[in-house]
Amino acid sequence: MNLIKEIELTLKNACEKAGYDENLSVSFSNMGICDFQCNGCFALAKKYGKKPFEIANEIISQIDKNDKFEFEVSQPAFINIKVTDAGLEKLANFMLSDQLGGLEKNKLSQKILLDYGGANVAKALHIGHLRPAIIGESLKRLYRLLGDEVISDVHLGDWGLQMGLTELQLFEEGKLEGYFVDGERNYQITIDDLNEAYPAANKRKSIDEEFKKKAEEWTLKIQQKESPYYDVYKIIRELSVKEISANYLKLGACFELWKGESDAHDFCDEAVKLIKEKGLAKKSEGALIVEVADEGENIPAGVNEDGSIRYNNPMPPCLIQKSNGAYLYATTDIATILMRNKEYKLDRIEYVTDGRQKMHFKQVFRVCKKSGISPEGQKLIHIVNGTMNGSDGKPFKTRSGETVKLEDIIELLMNKAKEKLTSNGASSDDETALIIGVGAMKFGDLSNTVSKDYVFDIDKFMAFEGKTGPYLQYMVVRINSILEKLNGKQGGDIFISCEEEREIIRSIIKLNSAYQICYRDRSLNALCTALYDLASAFATFYNNHNIINECDENRQKSFISLITLVRKKMLQALDVLAIKVPKKM
Ligand code: ARG
Repeated sequence: MNLIKEIELTLKNACEKAGYDENLSVSFSNMGICDFQCNGCFALAKKYGKKPFEIANEIISQIDKNDKFEFEVSQPAFINIKVTDAGLEKLANFMLSDQLGGLEKNKLSQKILLDYGGANVAKALHIGHLRPAIIGESLKRLYRLLGDEVISDVHLGDWGLQMGLTELQLFEEGKLEGYFVDGERNYQITIDDLNEAYPAANKRKSIDEEFKKKAEEWTLKIQQKESPYYDVYKIIRELSVKEISANYLKLGACFELWKGESDAHDFCDEAVKLIKEKGLAKKSEGALIVEVADEGENIPAGVNEDGSIRYNNPMPPCLIQKSNGAYLYATTDIATILMRNKEYKLDRIEYVTDGRQKMHFKQVFRVCKKSGISPEGQKLIHIVNGTMNGSDGKPFKTRSGETVKLEDIIELLMNKAKEKLTSNGASSDDETALIIGVGAMKFGDLSNTVSKDYVFDIDKFMAFEGKTGPYLQYMVVRINSILEKLNGKQGGDIFISCEEEREIIRSIIKLNSAYQICYRDRSLNALCTALYDLASAFATFYNNHNIINECDENRQKSFISLITLVRKKMLQALDVLAIKVPKKM
């Protein structure tokens, strides 16, 4: 049941009767005097050379009287539509019984692969992985709710120099002896070893040329699956994946596929062959490149200080193979698309990363389209997330200016949640603190447009009042506790007896329509706002009515059904945002 569509159909029929073959569109009204509004009569007036006010009246005079909507024309020529109490009641009761709470699925179900992990083996997850995980997980849930089939792939960075660096460092620390020297394996590598080894090796790489060279050799040996380099790599990968998935899980992100760059590696030769066959590959200083510029790109605009040409709208060629034969990051992503298309028939492949990879994906997508690696009609989409900034407006860093580890952020959030809970006199166990801390972070993040930067303000995110995650969680906890106190009393038909109830039902209508906006924009902010509005409408209702002690039995039954509906719709939306609700707070 979609009110907007229903109203639009009523208007279309009325238009026809009045002699206009037109579709008028309807939108929500924030004016307070009506629920929906149509301002299409101005365009009609121009087209038919009449006065807009007259046309509007002509149309509504053709509408048959019904008990669901009231139509009215207001100056200069708006058609205002109010949903009657009977209409709202019918809808509310339907939403309560409908499995999806009145939410409509998309007409066309799409098969989508969503790539929003990007964690790197042997390196700790860091702040840069936070937003893609939060946003990607919610988009996946949104798409599924609306009827798409979605596969998520973590796409591990498990094939780069960091592998050789980590292994060499561990070797030099004497931790790999059992693997490299025959004899007893007297040491088991731990996750702590890994977490220390990579940063140390990375530092060393920039000052010790010899070490770097050797690490490159080791990386090559791993990639050629030479023993025992490759065996140790597999152990490192497994250890690392365990830790990575545990951290993703804390964020509520889970992936069906745990493939990595290493899996794509087997498809690189074939991808390059396909590109060559299409005549797209060009040798440039020994390396292999693909020109991907379109018309209007790469317009020479002068000379840089170093003598190179400066371009307006630059679109450099995509480098797919180095002169020494090695493949690059772009090649891996191209090969990954080839691999995915061999396995699945996908309508869309979508990626969530920050803006630093804009050029990379543009190039990769163009190579895949030109070469046919991505078939015609398949959409390749890069969803660019803005950065999470500190209070100084720059990307969030540790005090000493280092990249923040994801684990540290989670700990920070949990501690803050514990502080809050304790000051409220509630129990502050780890599980509750995780649910509230992470929920606060996620809601703070998803309330912003995906592409925008925002400031990580833990006090603001964690407030129990206002447009925050904990506020929403608190409202659900409250409904749970009311229903618990009612001790199994059953609800009845919802009927409207006051304005607060009307407002709740209107908020649910808006919430239902927010899903489509989010789907179109690939951003969850509209859902966050609508969810908060519903929670506020419930809070007002709750403050003004004593549900538990209501003495009119039918009215109490209607109250019970209404708050059950509120909870159902809130939980549905929170589930899309992958925000859990604690038992108590
Ligand atoms: N591993 C990369 C990083 O940490 C991100 C990978 C993004 N996804 C992709 N398909 N390239 O920067």
